[in-house]
Amino acid sequence: MDKKVTVVGAGNVGATVAQRLAEKELCDVVLIDVIEGVPQGKALDLAEAAPIEKHDAHLTGTNGYEASQGSDIVIITAGIARKPGMSRDDLVSTNAGIVKDVTQKVAERSPDTIIIVVSNPLDAMCHVAYEACGFPKNRVIGMAGVLDSARFRTFIAMELDVSVENTTAFVLGGHGDTMVPLPRYSTVAGIPITELMSKERIDALVARTATGGAEIVGLLKTGSAYYAPASAAVEMAESILKDKKKILPCAVYLEGEYGINGLFVGVPVKLGKNGVEQIIEITLTGEEQAALQKSADAVRELKELLKKLS
Ligand code: NAI
Ligand code: 2OP
Repeated sequence: MDKKVTVVGAGNVGATVAQRLAEKELCDVVLIDVIEGVPQGKALDLAEAAPIEKHDAHLTGTNGYEASQGSDIVIITAGIARKPGMSRDDLVSTNAGIVKDVTQKVAERSPDTIIIVVSNPLDAMCHVAYEACGFPKNRVIGMAGVLDSARFRTFIAMELDVSVENTTAFVLGGHGDTMVPLPRYSTVAGIPITELMSKERIDALVARTATGGAEIVGLLKTGSAYYAPASAAVEMAESILKDKKKILPCAVYLEGEYGINGLFVGVPVKLGKNGVEQIIEITLTGEEQAALQKSADAVRELKELLKKLS
């Protein structure tokens, strides 16, 4: 393939990202992990599925960074995941060290790449990666809003017994319990859900979306979600690789947009071959703006905590 994506972390999310990238025949994939044999084994296993899945993407598993040279995109999923009773924020100090280290290594070999951060706590890890690589802000993007919006869309479709394809949804803010699902901008076949459901039902779906990650952790018990997170990261990568210019909610570095300065927060952006090509500012109600500000404050607190830890 003429495109290359490196996925750092060959765990649940990373391996599923590699599988989806290859099966969509978007690019060759380099899968990196610190555990000897795991990225090699998973890459080989995925390669052996290729004749049946009918794709010609090459998959390489490795513990080093040489093969990542010249990647178009690097997706960082390395780190530890949540276990029951842990919040995303409990991961902060361990994952900050890991994300800093792997970002420096990939940036050295792929100075023109676009980094998609997945590791949690997401918004804080975007800051770590941004500082570690020194890239311009359009080339460091966090995955959260696409996942959170997909969860909201799933719950809307379940509630109304309609196709998920008919649904659209927007979830802004940080990837935490203070995330901001926007019912006004969430639709079924173009009809705002505020026309289709009672306020009580919308509030229940909003609450389920905000705790969607914890719901999966509670069920799995040994880790966190990975199928939907992998799909979300691949949707972002596809928009960049194919220059599709999709509008997707992503964590990006804000400098005054939405009244937020110097923070990675989830807002709608256009993703194309240059990474973040536009930040879309939509008009929020006073209540929505206050919720976004509260979510941004939670991100700022974690950023401050990171400063203390470093
Ligand atoms: P996992 O535990 O299955 O995989 C993580 C992998 O990272 C492991 O294979 C581990 O060996 C590897 N790793 C650790 N240190 C490394 C290093 N220095 N270099 C290379 N690889 C290293 O975890 P999972 O489920 O894949 O989740 C990965 C991360 O993504 C977690 O932090 C999780 O919280 C986060 N996540 C974020 C989501 C989001 O919406 N942003 C959604 C789902 C997961
Ligand atoms: C999720 O939302 C754990 O952040 C991860 O599933």
